[in-house]
Amino acid sequence: MKHLIAPSVLSADFANLQRDVEMINSSEADWFHVDIMDGVFVPNISFGFPVMEAIKRFAKKPLDVHLMIVNPDQYVEQFARAGASMITVHYEACTHLHRTIQLIHQAGVKACVALNPHSPVELLSDILGDLDMVLVMSVNPGFGGQAFIPNTLNKISRLRAMANQLNPDLLIEVDGGVGLHNIPALLQAGANVLVAGNAVFAAASPTEMISSMKNLSASATASI
Ligand code: DX5
Ligand code: ZN
Repeated sequence: MKHLIAPSVLSADFANLQRDVEMINSSEADWFHVDIMDGVFVPNISFGFPVMEAIKRFAKKPLDVHLMIVNPDQYVEQFARAGASMITVHYEACTHLHRTIQLIHQAGVKACVALNPHSPVELLSDILGDLDMVLVMSVNPGFGGQAFIPNTLNKISRLRAMANQLNPDLLIEVDGGVGLHNIPALLQAGANVLVAGNAVFAAASPTEMISSMKNLSASATASI
């Protein structure tokens, strides 16, 4: 499959949110990546339901909701009702991950698990068959604009090999420090959903940047 681009709304201009949502609508982007941070699981607070609902009101593409919160079970229903197409929970925040994944699926939403940079992909071997997607964090979650951690490539390759055995349709999303410079290597390793915040919104033309990201291929010249 052709890889998907999910611009992260965290880097949008919140004073011009409708404008930025419409920019993504009219671009070659595939999804909206929506980062929810609670100030407990990560050392930052982003936004909650009123903002997410405002995004949903204008968005014409699926909302990919990344929950960086403790006790996500408590909010799965509400995020589904607010318009999430997929919900990502962190492995590190879920004591009963299998139950959480069931809850997400019962809410009619695709289920994804995120791994922090220190968490090995092998932790997911017994749940991989139940997942629609795995999000490999390539920075420590909490902030946009951080530098890509190169070991992510090694994790993605190992995860793609596991998925080939256990769940060949698994989507592998990468989030943090993604840009034109590392996309070819990420695709080559086996990622097929790319989140980008700063690289899109700090570009002179976000629409052209999204188009360039969408049209890169694994064989393009890469540097990390
Ligand atoms: C970080 C968030 C990311 C962030 C990515 O915790 O999960 O989605 O917005 O931003 P960039 O692409 O700027 O690293
Ligand atoms: Zn994210």
